[in-house]
Amino acid sequence: MTGKPGETRPSEQDRANGWGENVLVDIEDGIAWVTLNRPDKRNAINPGIVWEMNAVLDAVEEDDAVQVVVITGSGDAFSAGQDLKEYFREPDAGPPLDRERLYRANAAWQWRRMMYFPKPTIAMVNGWCFGGAFQVLIGCDLAIASEDATFGLSEINWGIIPAGIVTKSLAEVMSQRDAMYYIMTGETFTGAQAAEMKVVNMAVPASELRARTKKLADTLKEKNPFVLRSAKTAYHHVKSMPWDTALEYLMAKSDQTKYRDPERGDQKGMQQFLDDKSYRPGLQSYDRNR
Ligand code: COA
Repeated sequence: MTGKPGETRPSEQDRANGWGENVLVDIEDGIAWVTLNRPDKRNAINPGIVWEMNAVLDAVEEDDAVQVVVITGSGDAFSAGQDLKEYFREPDAGPPLDRERLYRANAAWQWRRMMYFPKPTIAMVNGWCFGGAFQVLIGCDLAIASEDATFGLSEINWGIIPAGIVTKSLAEVMSQRDAMYYIMTGETFTGAQAAEMKVVNMAVPASELRARTKKLADTLKEKNPFVLRSAKTAYHHVKSMPWDTALEYLMAKSDQTKYRDPERGDQKGMQQFLDDKSYRPGLQSYDRNR
């Protein structure tokens, strides 16, 4: 994958790779800034975004220059959710198998792959965030919003339920009272409210959004990538396990992680704390370069 700081996308290479029209990618200092790019349509998720995002995830997964993936939107929207015309009306009128393929590909990028994506992911919510965009938001490991971003479960306002996997996603991160309120009223809430409800990790003024997101990405870059991957995978799996099964799984996963970790982080971490006394794990990461 190409991608130099400040480079204007899409490049010829992007187009050859399978994106550049509906999704832009900039790789800078280990961070892939992935931008949904239909600002005139408030980045509503059309089939173009679906196919291009799957290609982008393939590419950033295997690109050693990428340590963290940030997903955001062009213009004043994160995403206005699924495109009512291109994602719903037109496929509804077309061959059922085509619609099925589209829905499957959409589920793949929005949550199936994202949930277990081998690299850390951050949703940077810069503006409008509706309906299907919640799947992306919640599919990402972490989320930061602009305080004045606008969120909404607008489905009820146009006569459908929050389907795809939206309602399930909401049930994972929102309290029952909050989820039911917004599902049933279709009212909007701000980024600041989203942070209070823990739909996002934090909300910051719009002017600080990118810098704060970069700071978070830089923190993740310091961590052992192999262990990060195991940690997030384990979290998602144990959520639905009974306690005893979870204990067995976590101990096995921990052993697997230790022995398959190419840098044997546990050994370095213990040595630097217990023998070298060069750092305190309660307060920072071990030095991966020693
Ligand atoms: N699907 C299809 N097109 C959409 C869209 C969506 N989800 N969201 C926005 N658009 C299109 C509009 O049709 C319009 O297209 P046009 O210029 O060809 O007429 C364009 O994007 C701009 O939308 P507009 O409503 O004029 O922008 P706005 O800034 O005044 O309002 C929103 C922004 C997001 C509040 C408004 O567009 C909206 O309510 N969108 C639908 C949100 C929704 O219900 N999403 C859930 C889908 S599951």
